[in-house]
Amino acid sequence: MGVYTNRESLSNALLPFRKGKKIGFIPTMGALHNGHLSLVKQALNENDCVVVSIFVNPTQFDNKKDLEKYPRNLDADVKFLSQLEGTLFVFAPEASNLYNGPVISKKYTFGNIEHEMEGKHRKGHFDGVGTVVNLLFRAVMPDQAYFGEKDFQQLQIIRKLVAIEKLPIRIVNCPIVREPNGLAMSSRNKRLTEQQFNDAVLINKTLSEVKEKFSALSIPALNKLVVERFLKNTSLKIEYFEIANERTLKTAKRKYKNSSYRAFIAVYAGEIRLIDNMALS
Ligand code: PAF
Repeated sequence: MGVYTNRESLSNALLPFRKGKKIGFIPTMGALHNGHLSLVKQALNENDCVVVSIFVNPTQFDNKKDLEKYPRNLDADVKFLSQLEGTLFVFAPEASNLYNGPVISKKYTFGNIEHEMEGKHRKGHFDGVGTVVNLLFRAVMPDQAYFGEKDFQQLQIIRKLVAIEKLPIRIVNCPIVREPNGLAMSSRNKRLTEQQFNDAVLINKTLSEVKEKFSALSIPALNKLVVERFLKNTSLKIEYFEIANERTLKTAKRKYKNSSYRAFIAVYAGEIRLIDNMALS
């Protein structure tokens, strides 16, 4: 497995895979876990080689402290990936090489979905994600790129991005991978104390309860139920909970036949922000 720290050397390494072969790609910010591993395994099964990028992208953080504290350990990540068999390339560029100029976001117009949930609560986040994923896509030029559904809204943004940038890349949705206790796997989980990790079980438990009661209760009643569940827990604070139309991501106030819905939640455990979602119908 080769580790490449600039676009030029990665591009040379990928040359033998450009004709008649498939390149799979998983962009990550490192601190790899089994959720990432499942994406890499799927990509290895479906492509001739796979690139995993590891880059903590400054332009998508609206909170400086979160950026500073984001877990980073390239050696551990490379070791973690080396358990896999297959042709794997790690791309871990410096910001100056990837951005090739000032490390700032491009302004995108992703439409209504960029103003919902994460877009509302993390100003400029999706411009930062769009900017870096576009740069990474252009550096790797994969046939297929794999993204986890934990960041469901990000996935929709990436689909818009490839359309806007006219990139011939197939975007593959992959299901959320959970800890044995139900907590969605995330690099940020590494920062949780044992107590916070155990308390955070409530997130998946509550989403599962909402799913179970979705056909019986109205949306306002479900919203109330979620607030009540979290009131009893002192270590977790809800930033938002929303039931939204799965396609438009617009907040749902009532249910309509023939529409699909998904519950979305963002919660703070101390200063660590966790997100999760679940399909309801
Ligand atoms: O989901 C992530 O880890 C990041 O948002 C991504 C897609 C790697 C862009 O920095």
